[in-house]
Amino acid sequence: MSLTVALSKGKLLAGSDALFRRAGLPFPNGEGRKLVVSAGELRFLFVKDMDVPTYVEYGVADCGVAGKDVLLETGADVLEPLDLGFGRCRVVVASPAGSAFAPDRSATTRVASKYAKLATAHFLERGLGVEVVRLAGSVEIAPGLGLADCIVDVVETGRTLAENGLEEVETVAESSARLIVNRASFHARRAEVQGLVARLEQASR
Ligand code: PRP
Repeated sequence: MSLTVALSKGKLLAGSDALFRRAGLPFPNGEGRKLVVSAGELRFLFVKDMDVPTYVEYGVADCGVAGKDVLLETGADVLEPLDLGFGRCRVVVASPAGSAFAPDRSATTRVASKYAKLATAHFLERGLGVEVVRLAGSVEIAPGLGLADCIVDVVETGRTLAENGLEEVETVAESSARLIVNRASFHARRAEVQGLVARLEQASR
């Protein structure tokens, strides 16, 4: 039976494709809309980035590629043997440029984010309970439209923040793509999993 690999359909897809090819591993050609695709000795699942750890934790996939940001947010119980070195970004707090954002306990701060858990924990560490408005994307428009005081979101180049009138306030977490492995697969399919880890490790150097 072939190993099953869960991959994000989002920003990490191009980096995953390049890495697997560098490692001499099969990778689907990207044509068509099939979301479960076999290629050589591997089977690939293409899912939303936040769902990759779920497929791996539940053992539907033996391994996967997920951002550290997603792993921190989901808290999935998976092994994380390898930092793959691509998809580098940061999760940050950002607020309207020039607003001198300084939340205090006198009023409830509203935070728009798809990282509800990370955002809540970040402000709690500073002694602030915040109201998180959960969004699925395009979070950067929320402060300008009055939906939130600030956002917690991913920044890569900083362009989306700048073009939507926001500035970085502080960093919540650093992120990059990680190889994750199901705990049971790591033991039950040790030779195949370790073979995959070794090839990806060499290719990611
Ligand atoms: C991500 C993130 C930011 C943007 C940051 O969005 O949520 O919006 O990339 O990149 P930048 O700093 O290089 O501008 P994504 O494209 O994944 O879409 P989303 O709005 O659905 O989250």
